[in-house]
Amino acid sequence: STLHIDASKGRKIPDTFFGAFFEEINHAGAGGLWGELVSNRGFEAGGQSVPSTIFPWTVVGDDSSIEVSTDRSSCFDRNKVAVRINVLCDGPKFCPPGAVGISNPGFWGMNIEKAHKYKVVFFVKASGWIDLDVSFIGSDNETLASNNIRSSDQNVTEWRRMESVLEAKATDHNASLQITTTKKGVLWLDQVSAMPLDTYKGHGLRKDLAQMVADLKPRFFRFPGGCFVEGGYMRNAFRWKDSVGAWEERPGHYGDVWDYWTDDGFGYFEGLQFSEDIGALPIWVFNNGLSLNDEVDTPLIAPFIQEALDGLEFAKGSARSKWGSLRASMGHPEPFDLRIVAIGNEECAMSKYRGNYLKFYDAIKHAYPDIQIISNCDASQKPLDHPADFYDFHIYSHANEMFSKHTIFDDAPRYGPKAFVSEYAVWQSDAGNGTLLAAIAEAAFLIGLEKNSDVVHMVCYAPLFVNTNDKKWTPDAIVFNSHESYGTPSYWLQHLFTTSSGATLLDSTLQTSSNYIVASAIEYTNATDKNKYMRVKVVNFGSDPQNFRFSVTGLDSKVQSSGATKTVITGPNVKEENSFSEPNKIVPQHTSLENASEDMNVLLAPYSITSFDLSY
Ligand code: AHR
Repeated sequence: STLHIDASKGRKIPDTFFGAFFEEINHAGAGGLWGELVSNRGFEAGGQSVPSTIFPWTVVGDDSSIEVSTDRSSCFDRNKVAVRINVLCDGPKFCPPGAVGISNPGFWGMNIEKAHKYKVVFFVKASGWIDLDVSFIGSDNETLASNNIRSSDQNVTEWRRMESVLEAKATDHNASLQITTTKKGVLWLDQVSAMPLDTYKGHGLRKDLAQMVADLKPRFFRFPGGCFVEGGYMRNAFRWKDSVGAWEERPGHYGDVWDYWTDDGFGYFEGLQFSEDIGALPIWVFNNGLSLNDEVDTPLIAPFIQEALDGLEFAKGSARSKWGSLRASMGHPEPFDLRIVAIGNEECAMSKYRGNYLKFYDAIKHAYPDIQIISNCDASQKPLDHPADFYDFHIYSHANEMFSKHTIFDDAPRYGPKAFVSEYAVWQSDAGNGTLLAAIAEAAFLIGLEKNSDVVHMVCYAPLFVNTNDKKWTPDAIVFNSHESYGTPSYWLQHLFTTSSGATLLDSTLQTSSNYIVASAIEYTNATDKNKYMRVKVVNFGSDPQNFRFSVTGLDSKVQSSGATKTVITGPNVKEENSFSEPNKIVPQHTSLENASEDMNVLLAPYSITSFDLSY
């Protein structure tokens, strides 16, 4: 196979080409990217009615020494449930196992690290004064850190906020938070939070996970879903107003599609903030009055439209506007650079979609003419029957099909809205928990999108994250537990496309008798040395090695023989996966390319993607 490249001709790939998509799925945010260590911090997860379960909190002590229940006495109007603790014992001797109270295991164990500091905040009310020990306890019952909070000089009969910074003296990846006492009497606790002090850019995100996203150099960040935005039923849909403002006042909600409670710590504001922190344009997906199982009639859609407009004001309005002032109070007086929104997620086939969509579209374009709008409906085969700036395209398929789809946009209409491939992945048996096979098929698909980037303006993989303890959807790009994380081959493949946004797609023609070779060439500017490079990417989706030649004409200067590199993603077995014990089994392998020139013959490994970076 030969790729003939004419470096004198090309076209710019959109600056926004390559991005990331975050959905609250698989505990991606709650118990993942969001640094909060306490699960069910507001005791709301058991429902708004009381008495309710306090799961996953457990009781420290026995029936004779402590009674724990819930009531609706919280000081927070939107989350009234608090835990009521009636301490029946008095003094350490009479409070087995030494003190009584409640314990939270976090999201499958808290990661507490030696010499790291953690801010614990909680709200408390009591029948008298309080004397509480706030502690991180290791899996073998060792105390990792502990502070005493005591108000012996005054009673705490009104709700009061308490804060304490704990420094760990040892590491445990499976720790819990305990609040205990030996003082007889009744006390109530609510909104108990434990956050590491050291978070990504100080904005509350777990550093390793945030960095893995940042390393993809995403030019946009689509959030917060996905079906999470829709909800199985409207009552469980994500509503942005419940996810902003002081964290302790957020009601949280049960995400019924992915079947878990989230306190919405990673809310609308945090998504906008993270986008800014990683240099990505936010793409906000909001609920359009449609869930998986119920729909708001178009004549009744006005409050939802106002909610979306208010959301735009929150992101973009001046700090003196109603919603912009809330954003400012959260620490961001300047508007966020929100330019693109999606009216819902995947509801094109629903009966109310078009009617509702048009109402949203008109209202948003009227209030914010520069905002670009994404429709749910696929226009790759036939034009849309409604106005849009982008149409959404989702694909989950087997590997052969994904590979074959590298040409799917070749015949897509060149007029009208541009395509946003906002969810793609090989799944099911070919993908396991993230195989080499999946990544290679996706590589071909991405090369196809790059070649069609006159019409495909944005692309991102889905889902981004999975907490290994809650695999609702597999495969995913980044796998993590309380303290470790690794990228699947699909994650690492994306690294080869980080240079594509804003690059020039060079004219190239592939001459081949193989059905398994797909290739492209781009010219990009290296962010570090500011020099121009050519990147030739080629996929071999076959089980045999292949000879591959690339031949470059039209260059102003010669390819430099030294300094070129070759990067390969491949492996001995197509079903190979990375894991916590072997996180680097399938990762890009970089070698220097000796005697680089305009005309090169190379051998491609079976099931591989190879990229050649040449300087000139
Ligand atoms: O990415 C997982 C799910 O797939 C998303 O929530 C939804 O948009 C799609 O069906």
